[in-house]
Amino acid sequence: MMTMMHLFTCFLFVLMFGTSEQCEASFTATLPGGYNTNNLKPCVQYNQVLCPDDGYNSTTGVFTAEINGTYIVSVTMMTGLVAGHTNLMKNDGTYVWLYTGNQWDMATQVVCMDLVEGDRIWVIMANTASYTLFDVYNVFSAGLVSSD
Ligand SMILES: *[C@@H]1O[C@H](CO)[C@@H](O)[C@H](O)[C@H]1NC(C)=O
Ligand SMILES: *[C@@H]1O[C@H](CO)[C@@H](O)[C@H](O)[C@H]1NC(C)=O
Repeated sequence: MMTMMHLFTCFLFVLMFGTSEQCEASFTATLPGGYNTNNLKPCVQYNQVLCPDDGYNSTTGVFTAEINGTYIVSVTMMTGLVAGHTNLMKNDGTYVWLYTGNQWDMATQVVCMDLVEGDRIWVIMANTASYTLFDVYNVFSAGLVSSD
């Protein structure tokens, strides 16, 4: 009977904390602050987290996979009144490129990616011609769609 009670308590605990604010192997972060210039190196530090996950570090801007599987990863950028490039990086290699023009244009890439535990993804400014990203129109997200 005691064991049953204990199990039940554990189960409740898992239920309660499983439904907390934490996202499940998924995150979304944006970049408030108007024209961002100082938080783009060595990679973009999307510092306003809308959907938190242990794998995403908002200080570094790097997401580290904690679960093996296939993820959807999305990057949206806006540079404002200058043109600009960003790259979505996976473990030091470029995965996809983004570009926007100089009329408050926006660009988005949505990709599928296989990640294993410890794989890292982040976004860099790819061309020093313009070194700014404008406000919360810049969004970085990833979500696990199927685990291995
Ligand atoms: C995020 O990265 C910074 C810099 O490497 C580190 O000091 C900090 O502990 C990390 N935060 C978490 C929650 O891991
Ligand atoms: C994740 O993938 C790596 C590399 O293939 C493997 O070594 C590891 O055992 C896997 N982890 C799990 C929990 O399946």
